Amino acid sequence: MSGPILIFDSGVGGLSVISPLRRRLPDAALVYACDNAMMPYGTRPDDWLVKRILAVCSAAVAASDCCVLVVACNTASTLALDLLRDRLEVPVVGTVPAIKPAAASSRSRHIGLLATSATVSRPYTDRLIREFAADCRVTRVAADPLVAQAERLLAGETPDRAIIREATAPLWAAGDLDTVVLGCTHFPLLSAYIAETAPHGVRLVDSGEAIARRTAQVIVSSAPRGERDRSFATAPDTRLSRALSAFGFDAPQWLPLD
Ligand code: DGL
Repeated sequence: MSGPILIFDSGVGGLSVISPLRRRLPDAALVYACDNAMMPYGTRPDDWLVKRILAVCSAAVAASDCCVLVVACNTASTLALDLLRDRLEVPVVGTVPAIKPAAASSRSRHIGLLATSATVSRPYTDRLIREFAADCRVTRVAADPLVAQAERLLAGETPDRAIIREATAPLWAAGDLDTVVLGCTHFPLLSAYIAETAPHGVRLVDSGEAIARRTAQVIVSSAPRGERDRSFATAPDTRLSRALSAFGFDAPQWLPLD
């Protein structure tokens, strides 16, 4: 199958995997699709989300004629990966919290998970922790307000440091953790701001490199990159166009849903 690589998220979070993808696959055409009409996903009910994610991903796969779908969203992946793999005709690469590498490198055996409300409480996340961090203490912190701050940053506005400080404070109150998993793709975009709030020496870990590595393994051949890459959105939004343009994407086309 030869087509572009399709990257999907609710909003601009999936843009945090674009640099790792371009480093590994510099000649591949990319298409970005986001469900900005329904962002944020992290506080929505699971049954609603499952239907929505399937509808948007199916439409984006059809519109882009892609060779692979990268679900650059932990909230969507921890809920709907199996379903997407079952229903779509292209390979699907998911994004799940980087619990495994975080646990492997933690010296204090205490790690933090900073993610959306949905992701911190999913059975998928429980399984990851049981499987890869059974001997660690894991402090889970739901930090939904950070999603809007990442959107602000990419729209060219200054994120609100007080909101970031308040959202991350429960991590630092938990004691001796030395590693924090950024389990929402929006959060690596804010890593400099999150690091400002962290005690000295705490490491922030995300899934960007692992996603790029996995995507490169999965694709057989992809369409060659042209001047600009295309994008799709579910609602008009000039702030989104600005963010996409900074990452080399054309202004989004409207994505029709069935
Ligand atoms: N960027 C998404 C994630 O990785 C979701 C953000 C949201 O829409 O709540 O979970």
